Amino acid sequence: MLTPVLLSGGVGSRLWPVSREAHPKQFQPLAGELSMLQETLRRTSGIEESAPLVVCNEEHRFMVAEQLRQVELKASALILEPAGRNTAPAVALAALQAQQDDPEALLLVLPADHVIQDVAAFTEAVSRAIPLAQQGRLVTFGVVPVSPETGYGYIKCGAALGDEQYDLERFVEKPDLDTAQAYVESGNFLWNSGMFLLRADSYLTELGRHHAEMLSACEAAMAGAQADMDFVRPDAVAFDACPSDSIDYAVMEKTELGAVVSLDCGWSDVGAWSALWDVHPRDDRGNVVKGDVILDNCDNSYFRSESRLLAATGVDNLVVVETADAVLVAERDKVQDVKNIVAMLKAAD
Ligand code: GDD
Ligand code: MG
Repeated sequence: MLTPVLLSGGVGSRLWPVSREAHPKQFQPLAGELSMLQETLRRTSGIEESAPLVVCNEEHRFMVAEQLRQVELKASALILEPAGRNTAPAVALAALQAQQDDPEALLLVLPADHVIQDVAAFTEAVSRAIPLAQQGRLVTFGVVPVSPETGYGYIKCGAALGDEQYDLERFVEKPDLDTAQAYVESGNFLWNSGMFLLRADSYLTELGRHHAEMLSACEAAMAGAQADMDFVRPDAVAFDACPSDSIDYAVMEKTELGAVVSLDCGWSDVGAWSALWDVHPRDDRGNVVKGDVILDNCDNSYFRSESRLLAATGVDNLVVVETADAVLVAERDKVQDVKNIVAMLKAAD
């Protein structure tokens, strides 16, 4: 039984000032009419065999429930984390929940903040991954890299296992720039898209092998979970004691069961403002414009206005984002550093 698992617990600090702790990017219509969470849910409707599981922070439960209602989709459960412990525990909670219906449930793990332009190609890649995952492989979806991005995981493909399917020879999460450059130049590495297809039992076994303490904490949290309507609340004391780590570091870098399916579907992780400039159609001077904006002699920039008129003249390669209470101005190739501003604001609080 294939169950989509939506990871919706991130904060999205590089998309400040639109993405805020109380209202992170996945709940916002940043790349289309629907929020990224809603787009991700829609995308799975042709593939799923059982209703999706959403794993999110407890504080976002009403926002998630409302967003599901708006698109008339129903989750089999919303698993509410009392605090974020990163993605390895989040997937473990979902695996333990899914096992209640089917011990060998297949989980299609999807970050709720990605853009996919060709949904048919995505669906096709998932179908190719299913037999591998059924054999117990932890399958990643690999994308041909176009730049030495240091915020991604890199996958070295090993022996072919089938059509565009490979053994995962090496997984390196977030290498430094020199290493990323060498990987891209070698032509032997793919980016990890951050989406996975895995059998609940294989994942839990591998987590137990490489991170026993994390597995026990998640098991204890789910053993003490309270269910109320669609909400599943893992035991807060047990989950608090869970170490924090991502699935990439905790499992994928270590497992010998990894496999890769190649993915060519116009995928983008909308991690920073520059990614929105990348995915949107641009005007003839290379600008992306959202909202009430007037431009004179501007090039290759992203302008977004949410509450007031935004006017610019004679600038290029900028990101300018206006909201009711804050304005961001950044060079387009420096937008990764917006997270520093969020850290400064937090420190000043
Ligand atoms: N429920 C839950 N709980 N979700 C979480 C948590 C958590 O504690 N932390 C993060 N998430 C969600 C985020 O909202 C996002 O949708 C997804 O899990 C991935 O987390 P990110 O924090 O965005 O990871 P990343 O972008 O740094 O790295 C991952 O994605 C890259 C591609 O986008 C890795 O898998 C990389 O290897 C990969 O290349
Ligand atoms: Mg991400």
